[in-house]
Amino acid sequence: MFFQGIRNMGANMDLSRGSKGMTMTQLDLIKDYYGKVLASKNDLKTTACCSAESLAPHLSRLVAQIHDEVRAKFYGCGVPIPSCLEGLTVLDLGCGTGRDCYLLSSLVGPKGKVIGVDMTDEQLATARKYQDYHRNIFQLKESNISFRQGFIEDLTGLDIADNSVDLVVSNCVINLSPDKERVFAEIFRVLKPGGELYFSDVYADRRLPDRLRSDPILLGECLGGALYFEDFRRILAKQNCLDSRTVSRSEIMVTDPELRQRIGNARFFSITTRSFKLPLEDRCEDYGQVAWYKGTIEHAPHTFALDDHHIFETGKPMTVCSNTASMLQDTRYRQHFRVEGDTSTHFGLFDCGPQTAAQASGSNAGACC
Ligand SMILES: C[S@@+](CC[C@H](N)C(=O)[O-])C[C@H]1O[C@@H](n2cnc3c(N)ncnc32)[C@H](O)[C@@H]1O
Repeated sequence: MFFQGIRNMGANMDLSRGSKGMTMTQLDLIKDYYGKVLASKNDLKTTACCSAESLAPHLSRLVAQIHDEVRAKFYGCGVPIPSCLEGLTVLDLGCGTGRDCYLLSSLVGPKGKVIGVDMTDEQLATARKYQDYHRNIFQLKESNISFRQGFIEDLTGLDIADNSVDLVVSNCVINLSPDKERVFAEIFRVLKPGGELYFSDVYADRRLPDRLRSDPILLGECLGGALYFEDFRRILAKQNCLDSRTVSRSEIMVTDPELRQRIGNARFFSITTRSFKLPLEDRCEDYGQVAWYKGTIEHAPHTFALDDHHIFETGKPMTVCSNTASMLQDTRYRQHFRVEGDTSTHFGLFDCGPQTAAQASGSNAGACC
């Protein structure tokens, strides 16, 4: 019954022709594209599903150990791998052939677990084929990954309980969903309080017209379904997530002249964001709080980047808004920060540009988080 509901999603899109020339819904089209049309990343027509983001050295070392076939079929657009992962339960939405699941498997270690969800048989078959190979490579007694076939819009159908997951990641997938609001509702249902959503995806600088949203090539290549970033913010707000942070952002260049012509002036970006299941405010508010990074996160002895404008240097005090303070002290990052102050006295709107406690001058310029 629910499966039927999912299949009907997008049924009224301009239907297109798949590899067998059949009329397809959006979900069928995507399954066909990733299951049958693409044999490896060499078959992609744009670079949207090809991460240009550089990997931290410790992640590069892990990627070098991933099986060649899994690497050849990696279609991610970013690096949705935050720090402090040991022992966590992580859910990867649209895991594909499992590259990120395998990285996460090594990083969460034997006490953690990774659930990879994907709807496409062929993608999961490749992921599962190398499960034992990676268990061996990463020296785990038992595999800590469970690959599950299903829809990211229906995590209940995959037995993923409310408040059961520490971290949700995803790499270039949510743009492909015909019901993105449902995906975010599911994410915030399964996240534990204080849990984190950290994912990379493709966004557009405007709402795309129907002719682009239903173009099978643009859809399959992760461009046609791209959310206008402001609409992403609005969808999160419906889940009571009022402050999401951009970690990194890079423009995707569509160089194919024919596709470029079809797209017109729209621009596309690969963006990695982090959002927490926390009761935050819609603006950054100043309660005079100050945070110190202790330098204790593995592979980050000198700095910790919460987002693209909160770069904490070890030992250096930073004035923070109450949202940032909560992200640091009400989540798994708490052991790595000292946060002083509480929300008993309000000093007005916070200027969320990076500044040290010494630089803070009582400016009340608009919040920027
Ligand atoms: C661009 S690929 C990215 C795969 C993987 N994250 C990676 O980085 O290689 C998109 C993947 O999402 C899966 N997918 C798309 N929409 C989905 C949905 N609604 N439910 C489950 N999986 C979906 C596809 O089957 C495909 O494997």
